[in-house]
Amino acid sequence: MGKRITVIPGDGIGKEVMDAAMLVLNKLDLPFDYIWMEAGDEAKEKYGKALPDETLEECKRSDAVLFGAAGETAADVIVRLRFELETFANIRPAKSFKGVKALYDNVDIVIVRENTECLYKGFEFNVADGVAEGIRVITRKASERIARYAFELAKREGRKKVTALHKANVMKKTCGLFRDVCRSVAKEYPEIEFNDYYIDAACMYLVMDPYRFDVIVTTNMFGDIVSDLAAGLVGGLGLAPSANVGEKHAIFEPVHGSAPDIAGKGIANPSAMILTACMMLRHFGYVSEAERVERALESVIAEGKTTPDLGGSLKTMEMAEEVAKRL
Ligand code: NAI
Ligand code: MG
Repeated sequence: MGKRITVIPGDGIGKEVMDAAMLVLNKLDLPFDYIWMEAGDEAKEKYGKALPDETLEECKRSDAVLFGAAGETAADVIVRLRFELETFANIRPAKSFKGVKALYDNVDIVIVRENTECLYKGFEFNVADGVAEGIRVITRKASERIARYAFELAKREGRKKVTALHKANVMKKTCGLFRDVCRSVAKEYPEIEFNDYYIDAACMYLVMDPYRFDVIVTTNMFGDIVSDLAAGLVGGLGLAPSANVGEKHAIFEPVHGSAPDIAGKGIANPSAMILTACMMLRHFGYVSEAERVERALESVIAEGKTTPDLGGSLKTMEMAEEVAKRL
C-alpha cells in the first residue's frame, strides 16, 4: 500500500544529508509519496514559526515523517513533534561498522529512550531574578509503556538483556518511580536478563566495557545524552540513526543536529540519515530493501569511501552515490 511521507530537511547539514538519503531511496522501487515541508531556524525566519502549522498538519496526516535536523529551534521543532505525534519510544541503535576506526569493534547496543516526558517537557520558569526552575515529570504510565517496549524489542530482535539507567539514589521520586516500574515489568519477561545502573556509573561502563550492554532503557534526557555517547563509541554521530515510534505515528531522524561547524561544506556523513531511512523501510515492512541499502553502505564504509569524519575524502553526495551505485 502506498505511504505518504513528510520530508523535513530542516537546517544546516539536515538538508545535505536529506538530499543524500533521497538519492538512495529514489533508487528503490517504493510506493512512497514524498511531501516536502519546512521547519527549523530558517522556517522561523521566514514564517515566524519554527514549526509552521501546515508542516505540523502534514505530519499528522502522513504515515511517517523523515526528518533531517533543526538548529537552535530543535526544542520547538523535533522535541515538539515527538510530543504532538505521541511517538513515545525513541530507538537509537549504536552498531560498529567494519572499516571504521573506533574505540571498540562489534558493539551492538540499542537505546530505548522515553520520548514524552522528563525535563524535556519544557516546564521551565523564571521564578525570581536570577532563579530559574524546571519541572521533571515521570509517570507510571509512560514508564511502563517504554519499559515494555524495550523488552518487546529485545524479544523481537533476539536480544538477551535489558538495562535500565536512572539516578534513583538522588532523584528518589522521579527516577525511583521509573526504576521500580522497570523492575516490575522485567518480571513479566523472565527469559530476558534485566539489571539497572545509576546513569553516572553506566557512562563509565559504556566507555570501558560496552559489551555489558544490549538494550538500554532510560528516561528522556539521560537517553539523549547516552545516545550521543554510544554513537561516539562506534565512530561518531555520522553513523547514528534513530526512529521515534508511537501507536499512530512515526518520525525517523538521525541522532545528530544541524552541525553548523561543517554545514555548507558538503562534507557531512550521510550514513546516519541513510540508516535512518532504512529504519523507516523496516517500519513499513520493506526489510529486504533496508538490508540491501545497509549492505551497500557497509561495503562503501569498509572500502574507506567515506566522508572526512571517518577518515575518507568523499563529499556527502559522492558517498551517497557510491551507495546508490551498489543497489
Ligand atoms: P550536532 O549533532 O549538530 O554536532 C555535534 C558534532 O558532531 C559536530 O562537531 C558535528 O560536526 C558532528 N557531526 C554531527 N553530525 C555529523 C555528520 N552527519 N557527519 C559528520 N559530523 C557530524 O550537535 P551540536 O553541535 O551540539 O548542535 C548543533 C545544532 O543542532 C544546535 O543548534 C542544536 O540545537 C541542534 N540540534 C538539533 C538536533 C535535532 O534536530 N534533532 C539534535 C541535536 C542538536
Ligand atoms: Mg541529542
